[in-house]
Amino acid sequence: MNKQIIMLPGDGVGKEIIDSAKIVLNTVASEFGHSFTFHQHAIGGEAIDLYGTPLPEDTVKACQGADAILLGAVGGKKWDSLPGDQRPEKGLLGIRKTLGLFANLRPVKGYRSLLHASPLKEEVIKGSDILLIRELTGGLYFGKPSERRENGDAVVDTLYYQRNEMERIIDKAFESARLRKKHLTSVDKANVLESSRMWREIVDEKSREYPDVTVEHLLVDAAAMKLITQPNRFDVIVTENLFGDILSDEASVLTGSLGMLPSASVRSDGVGLYEPVHGSAPDIAGQGIANPLGMILSAAMMLRHSFGMEEEAAEIEEAVHDSLEQGYHTPDLQIKGGKVVTTKEMTEVVVENLTTINVSN
Ligand code: NAD
Ligand code: IPM
Ligand code: MN
Repeated sequence: MNKQIIMLPGDGVGKEIIDSAKIVLNTVASEFGHSFTFHQHAIGGEAIDLYGTPLPEDTVKACQGADAILLGAVGGKKWDSLPGDQRPEKGLLGIRKTLGLFANLRPVKGYRSLLHASPLKEEVIKGSDILLIRELTGGLYFGKPSERRENGDAVVDTLYYQRNEMERIIDKAFESARLRKKHLTSVDKANVLESSRMWREIVDEKSREYPDVTVEHLLVDAAAMKLITQPNRFDVIVTENLFGDILSDEASVLTGSLGMLPSASVRSDGVGLYEPVHGSAPDIAGQGIANPLGMILSAAMMLRHSFGMEEEAAEIEEAVHDSLEQGYHTPDLQIKGGKVVTTKEMTEVVVENLTTINVSN
């Protein structure tokens, strides 16, 4: 199969980890007889420096014509004082919105060899396996342009959702739960926000269409607490944009590092943008030590969700698992013993394991 893949490295560690995905995908291509063509484009801070905008028209066009998109991360100190609509993050929000990628799937699954890497107790996190589904193109992120009023002393951000924007993500969550343990937790702030009350209403309506799925509602503050005290009670979690952003970074603690989490930003027809959950990590950028696994696992999600390559995706996941079992890890994972390696070395180990798996099959 020939696939055209757009690569958007972005900024900071984004530039360092995206090659890891490319190397792993090239290995998959040669093992399985596929052909992946990569086209690199600018987004975020890099695009601001090169073209004066975080989302050049050329990047948008390339993404619209692609089979799938891989993104590293955007942002950094250099651009932090720019006005909101000119920041690197605006490029990422823009491409999600332009492509209509309303569903952000963030699987959070602890690897056995990383149970000790989490500051949480092993018996608490053991066996946790959560799919966090975050609404990605609405809510506070995309309300009327934010503004300062009263000589800069007052601010307005708007939380706006249309019913159909809530319905489609809630449907996606019910469908995903059906393919898993059939348990859906809807997270909102219905005791305060009108948007959350409409959200809850829709979840209850939809639950009648999915009688095989058990539904519970949690308020976001309690959900944040339960996520790290009783992670095993969760299967699929669905929530609006901002709550999903915050809860997913929190959930990464279950896996030992934010650098472990992959994500898929998709719409109904399978087109998707695949990106690790973390950002440009300015504190470690340039050192060659970023964890590439969230990025590599995002590439696996791309193969599964956009290309229907289930076996290939599963082999990447197995190779990541094997590499961790062998003790290899980047310094963000606080594990006693094992071998601390660089981004490049970690990638080589995954590739080595991938090759071994395929030969033995
Ligand atoms: P961050 O996710 O970049 O970093 C948070 C912490 O996690 C840091 O200590 C960092 O070193 C660590 N970390 C993150 N990814 C890692 C990896 N792969 N390996 C090892 N350690 C890793 O969040 P931040 O520092 O709050 O934000 C930095 C910039 O990134 C900001 O400009 C922000 O807007 C942007 N950001 C971008 C994305 C994205 O592009 N998808 C996501 C989040 C934040
Ligand atoms: C994420 C990031 C982005 C978000 C930022 C960089 C706009 O934090 O993908 O989680 O908030 O969606
Ligand atoms: Mn985030």
